[in-house]
Amino acid sequence: MADPLFKWDESFLIGIEELDHEHKLLINDINRLHEELARHEEKSEIEMCLGEIYKRMEAHFALEERVMLVHEYQHFDEHKHEHNDLLDGFTEYMVRYLNDTGDPSSIPIEETLERWVVNHILTHDKKMSLMVKEKDSFKKKRPE
Ligand SMILES: [Fe+2]
Ligand SMILES: [Fe+2]
Repeated sequence: MADPLFKWDESFLIGIEELDHEHKLLINDINRLHEELARHEEKSEIEMCLGEIYKRMEAHFALEERVMLVHEYQHFDEHKHEHNDLLDGFTEYMVRYLNDTGDPSSIPIEETLERWVVNHILTHDKKMSLMVKEKDSFKKKRPE
């Protein structure tokens, strides 16, 4: 079995439980893709795995965007734009992969994806959660 591409640790927690849970699942999926590619799994399997990751990302971004809207997050547009870029970039990769007739593992899609996702969590998501949590604690202190 291939070593996981990415090992989860607490430094990736953003402090919003449901989003942290989803981040973990997303990273697990990317590790699964890494493993399947290393095993030279059938193209149809890889295709399914890619589709699942896409769906998970899309659903996760939608939930995160709801959290931001509820909290009137001031950098919502910028963050949503980043989500859209990630989905577009991933779609491009998937299309390239599906049209490639060579060895699938020669395309480091899972590494690129992992870098994008981890980087997004550590920058945009962390910044967002700090502001959202700050707003929540302010509301608790001053109930309307
Ligand atoms: Fe995000
Ligand atoms: Fe996220």
